[in-house]
Amino acid sequence: MREAAAALVDAVAEAARERVLSPKEYERALRDLGRMRGRPLYYPLLMGRGGRGARVQLADGSLKLDFIGGIGVYAFGHADRDLLETAAAAAAADEVFQGHLAPGPEALQLSKALLRHAGPHLRHVWLSVSGAMANENALKLIWQKKAPADRILAFEQGFAGRTSTLAEITDRPAYREGLPLRGNVDYVPFYDPQDPGSSERSLAVLDAHLARHPGRYAGMLFELVQGEGGVVTAPPPFFVALMERCREAGLAVWVDEVQTFARTGELFAFRHYGLEDYVDLVTCGKALQGSALLFSKPYNPKPGLVAGTYAGSTVGMAVGARIIERLESEGYLGPEGRVAVLERRIARRFEQLAKTLPRAVGPRSGIGAMHAFVPFDGRPEVVSALLRTCFEEGLLIFGAGQRPGKLRMLLPVNVTDAELEAGFTMLEKALRRVAEEHDLAC
Ligand SMILES: Cc1ncc(COP(=O)(O)O)c(C=O)c1O
Repeated sequence: MREAAAALVDAVAEAARERVLSPKEYERALRDLGRMRGRPLYYPLLMGRGGRGARVQLADGSLKLDFIGGIGVYAFGHADRDLLETAAAAAAADEVFQGHLAPGPEALQLSKALLRHAGPHLRHVWLSVSGAMANENALKLIWQKKAPADRILAFEQGFAGRTSTLAEITDRPAYREGLPLRGNVDYVPFYDPQDPGSSERSLAVLDAHLARHPGRYAGMLFELVQGEGGVVTAPPPFFVALMERCREAGLAVWVDEVQTFARTGELFAFRHYGLEDYVDLVTCGKALQGSALLFSKPYNPKPGLVAGTYAGSTVGMAVGARIIERLESEGYLGPEGRVAVLERRIARRFEQLAKTLPRAVGPRSGIGAMHAFVPFDGRPEVVSALLRTCFEEGLLIFGAGQRPGKLRMLLPVNVTDAELEAGFTMLEKALRRVAEEHDLAC
């Protein structure tokens, strides 16, 4: 069967080689897509076929180095042979999508793979398609268990998803403009490495909320590494102190690992940080090729609360399970695993870049395969100019954080030294170009 899948992958690649768009066709395709979406794409980027690893091929035949991976989706980069063959075999199964009424073996395989990494307390898993759906399910389980408590706590600068409820939990006013709000979300400051009293300050804010609305909080959302917020994290004692207080006050501890999943050196960041004793619910997505909510026994909801047509696509679930197997069997996980080694390689490369262009490389943060830094003074127009210039130089990255803005990388876990070197060379060129264009010292 694997041979047949391999032959199909070859045939598709062969056919795609003949389908490269001319510059005119490419421009028209981008224009059409933009018109139909109601706004242009952020980058003039339509994927084609023929990429490999960290290199993505665009539909006009050009190649870019992809250090953002569809915002964290392509864990093993593009056109990974093993994942494509897994996908081809799964695509020939009887059903394209599977639902909660009639799941198939892929749903079973994926659920088992996730629970293998979830620690002793998280016993159940509910599959879904997007990170937002997994978070919505988490919220419903929390509300039901803690009813009539109706308030939620979340970190400042956090991101939770794009539904109307999650847009309120997300701490970005522009993302909820015009939406009717419930007014039941309160925020706690995230860890500030510049402030030695950061933990005490966050605890004090948490306590003040708990005192202002006694018995009204159902849970607190922990995004352990704030991805959209600028790839910022905190030392484990910061999370432990807040989680302990939440437990004392009877709040659910809910961890959002949609962006961190498979990127921090463990499958779940909460295990990397040793927080398994505190966590009641965890959501994941992106690199999973679908999404899931894992939860402990007491949060198992009453019948009727969660359902939904789709558990996931057969291909997404098969590939998600295979990604987990590969992370395990190819040595990516653990303190000396390949993701931890990648983190050190990237840190060294950033140090080198900061020596070459000291004024262009501001504060940097990152873990495993997710990294960000403040370029120059982090002004929004400088960040946008850099993203566009990187694109022109052949490097795909994305922004994160606000005031200061950052450049963010969500790299494939198997990025090679040569790809890393090529990407940083492009980044350096882009920094120099923007410095010149904006009259910035670098
Ligand atoms: C931390 C976090 N939570 C939730 C989401 C929402 O996931 P999705 O876009 O798949 O709905 C994202 C997406 O960026 C995220 O980064």
